[in-house]
Amino acid sequence: MSDNQPTFSAESYFRTQPSPPNLEHDLTGVRNFVSRQIAENRKVVLVTSGGTTVPLEHNVVRFLDNFSAGTRGATSAEYFLEHGYAVIFMHRQFSLQPFSRHYSHSTNPFLDFLEIPSDPKDGESPSETIAIQPATVPHLLPILAKYRAVQQSGALHTLTFVTVNDYLFLLRGVSQELSRLGRDVMYYLAAAVSDFFLPTQRMSEHKIQSGKGTLNIEMDQVPKILKPLVDEWTPEGFIVSFKLETDPSILLSKAEAALERYGHQVVIGNDLNRRKFEVVLVARESVLKSIDSTNWTEIEGETGPDKFVQNWLRLREGKTEIEEDIVNELIRYHEGWGRMGKASRN
Ligand code: PMT
Repeated sequence: MSDNQPTFSAESYFRTQPSPPNLEHDLTGVRNFVSRQIAENRKVVLVTSGGTTVPLEHNVVRFLDNFSAGTRGATSAEYFLEHGYAVIFMHRQFSLQPFSRHYSHSTNPFLDFLEIPSDPKDGESPSETIAIQPATVPHLLPILAKYRAVQQSGALHTLTFVTVNDYLFLLRGVSQELSRLGRDVMYYLAAAVSDFFLPTQRMSEHKIQSGKGTLNIEMDQVPKILKPLVDEWTPEGFIVSFKLETDPSILLSKAEAALERYGHQVVIGNDLNRRKFEVVLVARESVLKSIDSTNWTEIEGETGPDKFVQNWLRLREGKTEIEEDIVNELIRYHEGWGRMGKASRN
């Protein structure tokens, strides 16, 4: 994110930019989902995943994009489901999704796992039957079983966005619905959100023509949406944001700066090249009071009554997904957040 002063506040952004056409429909779906989870006594996590686009034209041919395949979000969603959370999976259209991510078209095309049996049953022609290659069953079966169980339990609700505008309106609306859950909701904001956008009022109607030589576009800064999320939309929610950097030497200080600025509960710092096997969780010491925090250490040079602490997670031997440990740690922490809420009410 840039440190420039934003030209749009969150309030002026939502007042001047158009809301997505299917917003009300999406929010009705979320409202019903939340009511079911409250009835079933489940905690809910909102996982955002994938990158947002910034269109340059109303009839969009060109757009800017943010890096994210959606691996972090889709993988984490599966672990949250395993722990009994209900998940709202808000993701960039066509980015990876829980369960189907194991068979993505580029890394594991599912057609490669199918075969046409050479020995059809009586009366069947070979072209009417498809089989799974036996060697793929040990990998596919547990994934399919978990997928079916989640479908039956109704614990997963999916929403899609494409543009940064879709994302911002959805995040605001969904968080307002989720605020009914008080401290029983977690936000796991792994999406990569554009920092700059072109206001709809200045956007070209049709494809920008190339005949005029160089193209200069002045973009406005996207308002920092974590601020109203924390202060207004979901004041009791347990909020985890991600900080992506490419220079490891500034990762910790940027994560601390985000916590300081927005006042939420956890920032997870990840370096672009190390993100699959190393992350750092940064939090306020005071929020760790009610959990076992032996893995957390003070950040050097910290002063003041409310110190920030760090917890480096590294992929363990024999494990393939660091998200398993990220989710375990956050769930412990979320439980502590709930206990602190109860204690303050008593
Ligand atoms: O999907 P993968 O390929 O697995 O990659 C995962 C990931 C590297 C994208 C993910 O782990 C990650 O780091 N996501 C956050 C990347 C990012 O956009 O960082 P940022 O510095 O732009 O934003 C940091 C936080 O500020 C975000 O939580 C975001 O919600 C928030 N933000 C961003 C823009 C904005 N206008 N307002 C905000 O409040």
